[in-house]
Amino acid sequence: MKTILVTGGAGYIGSHTCAELLATGYGVVVLDNLDNGCEAALRRVEQITHRKPVFVQADVRDKDALDRVFREFSIDATVHFAGLKSVAESVANPALYYDVNLGGSVALCDVMDSHGVRDIVFSSSATVYGVSSDDPIPEHAEKQPAQPYGETKLAVEHHLEELCGENAGWNAVCLRYFNPLGAHPSGLMGEDPRGIPNNLAPYITQVAAGFRDRLMVFGNDYPTRDGTGMRDYIHVVDLARGHAAAIRFLDENPGFMPLNLGTGRPYSVLEVLAAFERAVGEEIPYEIAPRRDGDIAIYFADTTKAEKALGWTADFDMDDMAHHAWHWQSKNPEGYPR
Ligand code: NAD
Ligand code: UFG
Repeated sequence: MKTILVTGGAGYIGSHTCAELLATGYGVVVLDNLDNGCEAALRRVEQITHRKPVFVQADVRDKDALDRVFREFSIDATVHFAGLKSVAESVANPALYYDVNLGGSVALCDVMDSHGVRDIVFSSSATVYGVSSDDPIPEHAEKQPAQPYGETKLAVEHHLEELCGENAGWNAVCLRYFNPLGAHPSGLMGEDPRGIPNNLAPYITQVAAGFRDRLMVFGNDYPTRDGTGMRDYIHVVDLARGHAAAIRFLDENPGFMPLNLGTGRPYSVLEVLAAFERAVGEEIPYEIAPRRDGDIAIYFADTTKAEKALGWTADFDMDDMAHHAWHWQSKNPEGYPR
C-alpha cells in the first residue's frame, strides 16, 4: 500500500485525514511544525486506528528537512494541509500568509519534483470564490478572493495548475472546503483552537461548556430565511474521507482537478445553534450583534462534480456534526493534553 506524506497532519482536518488514511491501509508520514497542531492528536490517531503515523517536526518551508523526509521514506503522494488559516490575521500580515501558504507550497512542490513524486492533494478553500453571484457555487464560478488568505490559496492552485500543464507527470486535486465542523465520533479528536475562537462552532461549544457567556450572532437582517448568515457546513470526517477518495482519484486521473467539498445544504447561524442545543440538551445563550465586517449572507457548494469524480458524498448531517463536536468538547474540556 502507498505511503502518503501529510503536511499539517497534526492539525484539525489533517489528524482526521491521517486516521482515515491509516484505517484504509495507507502508510502515513506527518510533517508539521506544531505551530497550531498538537502531537497528542497523533497519539489519538494511533489510539483510533491501532496504527502509528511517523511524525517529523519541521517547517514546510524548510527544503532541507523536506529533502530528508523524501530520502528517508518512500513517499508516493502528498496531502498538503500545512498553512495558516485566519482570514483576519492574513489582512493584518499578508506577507506572512504569502510566505507560509504560497512559499511553503512552492518549496514542497520543488522537493517533491526533485524526488519524482508528483501527486498532490491540496487544502484549498471556498474563500477562493469571494463574493460569488452563484448559489450553489460551481467550481467554474469566478474567483475573486476578498482577502490575502484566499489569494494565497488561489495562487497555490495556479501554481499546481501550471505544473500539471507544463510537466506531464504532475497530478493535483485542489479540494475547496466549505465550512468544516464536528469531530471524530469517538470523542478522541476534534478542533482545539488556541485563544478566542473566530469560527461559529467552537465558539458555541465553549459557551455551552460555560467558558464564555453567550454567542454573538453577527447580524439578523440578511436576506436569508431567518435573517442570519447561511453556510455549507461539512463534517470533518466526511472531509477526511474526501481526501482518501482524492488520493485514489489521482491513481487513475492525470492532470489538475479543483473540487468543492461541502454538503450543498446551507444552514443559518440560528439553525446551527438549535442543533447544538439538541446535542447539549440545554438552551445556549445568545445575543444578536451587528454584522461582522466582510461577511456575506449565504454561500454553499455545488457538489455535483466532486460526487461524480470521487464517488463520494457527505454522510453526516448537522445533528451529527453538533453531537460529535459536543462529545469532543465535553470529553476534552481543555482540548488536547499539552
Ligand atoms: P490547523 O491549523 O488545525 O492545521 C494546520 C496544521 O499545519 C497545524 O497542525 C499547524 O501546526 C501546521 N502548520 C502551520 N504552518 C506550518 C508550517 N509552516 N510548516 C509545517 N506545518 C505547519 O487547520 P485546519 O483547520 O486543519 O486546516 C488545514 C488546512 O485546511 C489549512 O491549509 C487551511 O487553510 C485549510 N482550510 C481550513 C478551513 C477551516 O475552516 N478549518 C477551511 C478551508 C480550508
Ligand atoms: N458567526 C456568528 N458568531 C460568531 C462566529 C460566526 O454569528 O461568533 C456567523 C458568521 O457571521 C457566519 C457564520 O457564523 O454567518 C459562519 O462563520 P465562521 O466564522 O464560522 O465561518 P466563515 O464562513 O466566516 O469562514 C470560514 C473560515 C474561513 C474560510 C471560510 C470558507 O473561517 O477561514 O469559512 O471556507 F475561508
